[in-house]
Amino acid sequence: MDQLLNPHGGILMNRECEKVETEILLEEGIESVKVPLDHWALSDLECIAMGAFSPLKGFMTKEEYAQVIDQMRLPNGLIWPLPITLPVDEQLASKIQEGDRVALVNSAKEICGLMDVESKYEINQVEEAKFIYGTYEIGHPGVRKLFKRSSIYIGGPIILLKQRTKEFPSFSLTPQETRHLFTARGWKTIVGFQTRNPIHRAHEYIQKSALEIVDGLFVHPLVGETKADDIPAKVRMESYQVLLTNYFPQDRFVLGVFPAAMRYAGPREAVFHAIVRKNYGCTHFIVGRDHAGVGNYYGIYDAQHIFSQFKPEELEITPLFFEHSFYCYRCEGMATYKTCPHSDEDRLNLSGTRVRSMLKKGVKPPKEFTREEVATILMYGLK
Ligand code: ADX
Repeated sequence: MDQLLNPHGGILMNRECEKVETEILLEEGIESVKVPLDHWALSDLECIAMGAFSPLKGFMTKEEYAQVIDQMRLPNGLIWPLPITLPVDEQLASKIQEGDRVALVNSAKEICGLMDVESKYEINQVEEAKFIYGTYEIGHPGVRKLFKRSSIYIGGPIILLKQRTKEFPSFSLTPQETRHLFTARGWKTIVGFQTRNPIHRAHEYIQKSALEIVDGLFVHPLVGETKADDIPAKVRMESYQVLLTNYFPQDRFVLGVFPAAMRYAGPREAVFHAIVRKNYGCTHFIVGRDHAGVGNYYGIYDAQHIFSQFKPEELEITPLFFEHSFYCYRCEGMATYKTCPHSDEDRLNLSGTRVRSMLKKGVKPPKEFTREEVATILMYGLK
């Protein structure tokens, strides 16, 4: 295809229907059992269809699910750490047989896609919670979401018939588009950056440290479902743009959105995030402190340690690990424990909760924590 890494499993999936066929398949969908998709499943459908979740062709079957939960692998041995599943409630499930073609519908009851049901199965939610999130406490947002959904799943290949209206059209790049973009820029090494937060100085520091050793940076904020107290994607997108425009060389980054939902699955999600960015064409992926973590559910570097379970040649994308970064007043710059000899009193460490509360009260966090332009957007956006 190009000089970039191959997609996971070798082929970039495309499960979007050709225009000429759409009408015929929509007709077929009208006659089929309708399966409603929540916001989370709709974003998964979109990611599968555009190849972001390659090699997946659809929602997971019982066999795929069992191996992913237990071994973090697909039945063919490829690394895959998170279940991508489609729950259906019991009443609806009773109307669906393996071998059926069902229509996947959004909240407006419009047909978005079709699925050939290869597998219908009931799972143990407590087991899934323990394997994926390492806890079954309802306080964990991923666990809470899991327990709210049905424990009956259907799996099989999908085809996408209708795209959702894009929230950020100019930044909605498919893996195929980013691969072309990176190649056109002549980049051979690209580092992917996942985030669900505004880019503060610590994020900027690790991005720029990575940029010292690779050709380009792919800033890829997740804009799918997040927990209620995370900063809304719209506000974040404005903050990314102001930061990137003012503080990054314009020819060294690409900004695109990742439409998936946030799972808060810490270590497993870090591996998942890396594999997905490989599909978008990245060769490297940043994993900092408590990647995809929430509360105190994971150790601060668990999401880095998990990578040692896999051979680099299996994963192919190279994780770049960064320690907890902070501003040190005595160093007069960003640093980590690896580079700063001073004590905690000399360092600025603000929790996310503290910063959100400052912003809501109209108090600007210090420029050592976040760039002033970013703070202004956040204050205005969160009011
Ligand atoms: S995440 O849930 O998407 O991982 P966040 O947007 O906060 O959350 O983090 C984006 C990336 O930056 C992750 O790789 C995370 O580990 C890293 N990171 C966040 N804050 C710091 C920090 N202070 N020091 C080092 N890495 C950090």
